[in-house]
Amino acid sequence: MDRLSIAVITGGTGDIGLAIARHLARTHSEIVLLDIDLDKSRQSVLNFPPEISKKITGITCDVTDPSALSQAVDTILSMKGASLKTLVNNAGGTRVASLHEMTPSAWKAEISLNLDAAYFCFNAFADALKQSPEPCKSVINISSANGILGTFGNPAYSTAKAGLIHFTRTIALEYGKYGIRANVVAPGTVMTDAWKVKMESNPNVFENLKKWYPLGRLVEVDEVASVVAFLASEHATGINGVCLPVDGGLTAGMPPVARSFGVSEHL
Ligand SMILES: NC(=O)c1ccc[n+]([C@@H]2O[C@H](COP(=O)([O-])OP(=O)(O)OC[C@H]3O[C@@H](n4cnc5c(N)ncnc54)[C@H](O)[C@@H]3O)[C@@H](O)[C@H]2O)c1
Repeated sequence: MDRLSIAVITGGTGDIGLAIARHLARTHSEIVLLDIDLDKSRQSVLNFPPEISKKITGITCDVTDPSALSQAVDTILSMKGASLKTLVNNAGGTRVASLHEMTPSAWKAEISLNLDAAYFCFNAFADALKQSPEPCKSVINISSANGILGTFGNPAYSTAKAGLIHFTRTIALEYGKYGIRANVVAPGTVMTDAWKVKMESNPNVFENLKKWYPLGRLVEVDEVASVVAFLASEHATGINGVCLPVDGGLTAGMPPVARSFGVSEHL
């Protein structure tokens, strides 16, 4: 029987998720998008070239619910020749900007979506990954620049994204022996739907942000997705347990701080 090399992408119908789907479709025979809201992606997927859209399946699933995940695993493994190659924990998001506005239930919800869900998904798919005959199999967790530096607000989200980096290292350490690699991609600001609310209250938000980026611009969805595709590929079989920022240098430092010294026009 032909092997069906599968990539599972959580939050797969979001802007970054769909870009990851397009990139992974080059090296996988089936892309499964797990998302709580599949409807919004339908048109985008239809606009993909047919050789990509025919590989994409959507499953409605709340990734913070272990029983929904277990049903999704059963559905995926019932596909003929199913062989799990890549799991991308990409579902995530944040609403509460400061500790002052935080509540215990909002804290729990953000930790649940941005950290617990990655563990729940890994736990749900771990056996399928272990048993998969794929020669190159890995887990890629999408963290954030917020998980590296604590200066960007959204405290529950940032705490969860930092935890996600550490969780990834534990997978790398314990599952390397099964041939499963685990790595993190940590994007800086990417213009996606996730920014809708902030844009409504501050239409200049992206312009304001650019000055903090050494490249003088934000990151594109394809720049995140191509790094995910690299980490999932045969070109990255020696890479395990790393956190790769895709942030145009944001977490390398803060250019305006050096400029504020006023000692050089080159900073
Ligand atoms: N956009 C950015 O600036 C940025 C920066 C750094 C990191 N990230 C991370 O990248 C990932 C994707 O972000 P995006 O910008 O594409 O966001 P997005 O809002 O466009 O997509 C997120 C997706 O997750 C889905 N989702 C939310 N809750 C879910 C749940 N309980 N179960 C299943 N699916 C659920 C949403 O329906 C949505 O499709 C997130 O983890 C985010 O934290 C984004």
